[in-house]
Amino acid sequence: MGLLDGKVAVVTGAARGIGQATAVKLAANGADLALCDLQTDWLAETAEKVAALGRRVECVQMNVAEADDVTRAVGEIEQAFQRIDIWVNNAGITKDGLLMRMTPEDWDNVLDINLKGAFLCTKAVARIMMKQRSGSIVNVASIIGLIGNPGQCNYAASKAGLIALTKSVAKELAARNIRANAVAPGFISTKMTDALSEEVRQKMLANIPLKRFGSPEDVANVIAFLAGDEAAYVSGQVVTVCGGMVT
Ligand SMILES: NC(=O)c1ccc[n+]([C@@H]2O[C@H](COP(=O)([O-])OP(=O)(O)OC[C@H]3O[C@@H](n4cnc5c(N)ncnc54)[C@H](O)[C@@H]3O)[C@@H](O)[C@H]2O)c1
Repeated sequence: MGLLDGKVAVVTGAARGIGQATAVKLAANGADLALCDLQTDWLAETAEKVAALGRRVECVQMNVAEADDVTRAVGEIEQAFQRIDIWVNNAGITKDGLLMRMTPEDWDNVLDINLKGAFLCTKAVARIMMKQRSGSIVNVASIIGLIGNPGQCNYAASKAGLIALTKSVAKELAARNIRANAVAPGFISTKMTDALSEEVRQKMLANIPLKRFGSPEDVANVIAFLAGDEAAYVSGQVVTVCGGMVT
């Protein structure tokens, strides 16, 4: 018996990194999965891992920043599974630069995907969860949304906004038995962080009390807990997954 047996879960940005690890963890706990990313063929590796666990899996193309795309994709998922119990807003990008050099395009791009994307997806899935009178939404924020970071004012603002969105949605939808929580990962080894220089990586490591970078699985474990019924009395919370960096 898995903790998520019989549940249908959706993960955005599921092609790799934290999204892939989350999809695999939710499947290992018994959930069937709809995987979303910009292109369906990018999802093949994640889909194979989910299928190997004996769970049903559907790959759905979705650009979270495009309202029409989100509406269509959520419709396809609803048609395929008839319900959605868990939604993980994981898709996200960085476009780093110092404030004085940041272009309005780089600001908009990050806010559109990281924050507006989560709003569009939450609104679309809330319609289904409200009908069901149950559901769990987990948003993948960042410790940068709590503490800020030089060179990431767009990213920090998007993740701080996502945390505020989480808390508001939690309050608004609680009466329909829908929970919303956020995880705030610290420095996790993925393609997003591979791009950082060795110097920056060493500086970050010096500030992590547990003395290691996190793995996508470290984050996925917390997402799976928040997504499932073991967290039935947890809503509107932000759980940091950062090796003790932010306390
Ligand atoms: N890696 C870290 O250290 C770290 C730390 C804190 C928070 N996060 C957050 O975790 C999430 C996942 O990060 P990751 O490190 O696994 O990144 P990643 O770049 O490895 O994966 C992100 C995924 O999102 C998809 N994506 C990007 N734009 C999209 C869009 N418009 N529509 C749909 N899918 C889209 C990408 O194709 C990719 O598969 C992000 O929200 C990120 O901000 C990561």
